[in-house]
Amino acid sequence: MPESLRPVRLGALEIPNNVWMSPLCGVTDLPFRALVKEQGAGLVHTQMVSCAALVRGGESNRRTREIMALAPDEGPVGIQLFGCDLAEMAESARAVEREGADVVSVNFGCPVPKVVRHNGGSALLKDPPAVEAVTRAVVGATSLPVVPKIRLGWDSASVNAVEIARRVEQAGAAALVVHGRTRAQGYGGRADWAAIAAVKRAVSIPVVGNGDLFTPEDVALQLKESGVDAVMLGRGAMGNPWIFRRSLEVLAGRPDPGAPSAAERVAALARHTALAHARRGSVALAEMRKHAMWYLKGLPQSSERRRELNATLDFHEIGAILESYRVWLLEHPEAVAAEREASFAGADAGNLAEAV
Ligand SMILES: Cc1cc2nc3c(=O)[nH]c(=O)nc-3n(C[C@H](O)[C@H](O)[C@H](O)COP(=O)(O)O)c2cc1C
Repeated sequence: MPESLRPVRLGALEIPNNVWMSPLCGVTDLPFRALVKEQGAGLVHTQMVSCAALVRGGESNRRTREIMALAPDEGPVGIQLFGCDLAEMAESARAVEREGADVVSVNFGCPVPKVVRHNGGSALLKDPPAVEAVTRAVVGATSLPVVPKIRLGWDSASVNAVEIARRVEQAGAAALVVHGRTRAQGYGGRADWAAIAAVKRAVSIPVVGNGDLFTPEDVALQLKESGVDAVMLGRGAMGNPWIFRRSLEVLAGRPDPGAPSAAERVAALARHTALAHARRGSVALAEMRKHAMWYLKGLPQSSERRRELNATLDFHEIGAILESYRVWLLEHPEAVAAEREASFAGADAGNLAEAV
């Protein structure tokens, strides 16, 4: 595999490498971002925030502010906006800059009906001039690099990613992220990397490919074959922050350090839980249940241990359950090996099955 680890320039900003963390609602909060950053993710993102909530205030504004809060030393981080009102998007872009973000990501890909109904997310893909206008409004309001994130089109009959790419380039976008599915596909089927490659060939701004990267080999292969400037991982990083370090090693032409041990996975869950608890208390502990499912997938006794975890919101009790599980796993390597044998595809493919 040729060496293909490289920095990516977004306007005046240089992102140190080309393997990035995609925005994920309910997942890419501060503790999660800290863990993937530690594993080398070049750029991370908050989940999307509604420009309407941000501008109009009220209770949803409080929650929005919480989502947008960044750590002082976070280093390249994007805050993602969605919406369609030009004035609100411009005002929100200024708020993103005040918050200290390095990148403004603009969501034109969200398929969720609640978002699409209000002409947000992927709804705008049906109206390329509107995507261009929103991008132009955001670019005009901030000195930060603006990076729209799109799908291939609304449905298979209206694939228009190349047209949209040319329009956002004209509007001053610093780069473009393309998830290789249409809105109609949701998360089904496979991401179409040939279509992503066609977008890359059509514009001269950096193009970031996204969709179905679950292993370091996927990352290396798609960077090489599609020619994109960077890739962004979503579901492949859930319960699996190590995918960044592993991918970066492979891209640098060094051996894959391999998947973490079972005990390391439990220790990482415990650390993630502690970071989340320190930030948001027991609310965060309830939210950690889905992370526990991802970290522990494919480990022996994982359902029993998760049942125990789900029965409590006591931080110390959760810590004790995880520590006893970690020790048990260290003492039962044969059980770990048998379980791995049984689910040959391992945690990487497990993540895919879970999220689809
Ligand atoms: C649980 C979940 C939440 C997501 N939230 C967002 C979001 O807030 N903003 C966004 O642009 N995309 C969001 N996405 C889409 C991902 O960023 C990514 O584009 C998609 O999952 C494809 O990449 P993957 O195959 O690596 O997961 C979300 C996806 C999932 C599964």
